[in-house]
Amino acid sequence: MAQALKKLSVQVLKNNNVDQIIGCSALRASSTWWCNVEMGPPDVILGISEAYKKDTNEKKVNLGVGAYRDDNGKPFILPSVQKAEEVIFKKKLNHEYAPIGGEAAYCQAVAELAFGCDSVMLKEKRNCTVQTLSGTGALRLGLEFIAKHYAKVPEVWMPAPTWGNHPQICNMLKLTHKQYRYYDAKTHGFDLKGALEDICKIPEGAIILLHACAHNPTGVDPKPEEWAQLSQAIKSRKLFPFFDMAYQGFATGDVDHDALAVRRFVQDGHQVTLAQSFAKNMGKKERRIIVGNDAILKLAN
Ligand SMILES: Cc1ncc(COP(=O)(O)O)c(C=O)c1O
Repeated sequence: MAQALKKLSVQVLKNNNVDQIIGCSALRASSTWWCNVEMGPPDVILGISEAYKKDTNEKKVNLGVGAYRDDNGKPFILPSVQKAEEVIFKKKLNHEYAPIGGEAAYCQAVAELAFGCDSVMLKEKRNCTVQTLSGTGALRLGLEFIAKHYAKVPEVWMPAPTWGNHPQICNMLKLTHKQYRYYDAKTHGFDLKGALEDICKIPEGAIILLHACAHNPTGVDPKPEEWAQLSQAIKSRKLFPFFDMAYQGFATGDVDHDALAVRRFVQDGHQVTLAQSFAKNMGKKERRIIVGNDAILKLAN
């Protein structure tokens, strides 16, 4: 599947952007400043979007990017998001710098969304929440924090497979990353046995990356009782859980249910890091660069 998607995206790039790419390469070659810049790999998912746009089939459906669409396949803006934008616009807010850690009220609201309004950890103010540039920014900042300051084994263990940017970010930071078993291709389900076996062999003190819900790219999540087993295994192995929650509400339609794993781990006494994104569930993909307040990195204990 991954190979087929890659092939398709390469094909699309060839068909659509060949002139542009050749133009850029020529420019690069003639520049003494940038002659060492290498062409990056094609983005598989964006390649699918390009293929979708070109396809003339009336029944086409784009499953490449997780975004809301109306019955006509057009982008759908959530009424709540529209309303919030109107409120913000009417307030005529200034465009001054936010505090270095982000807007306090925003950080509090997103922390409650993740950990629950009744979270003891929040009530006791044991969390440290900062605003970042979307979910990718939160991952980057969290992992960079680990790369610089983590006192134990700075090795990040990721599910196999995982979102392509997880290993990329570690590579940029020169953080060792390895994989534990997650997806069972035979059952198309979660490989609990394989995951538990692998977790028991991860060096004590290492970091384990967990997709909180709607695992990307498989869509396969552990059941609540499986999360409970994972939590215990991770605790006995003294691993540090780093959650990536990019789809809260997308998996079951219930934001509280989708936060189950994160809340369970906190209740079980884990210290966790959580990278949160609102690009998908709020349908605010294009805004992430402009406002930079779609996501959050939490360092909770
Ligand atoms: C698992 C996962 N984490 C993080 C992100 C990044 O989210 P954002 O678009 O907010 O940077 C994505 C986006 O596709 C994702 O799938």
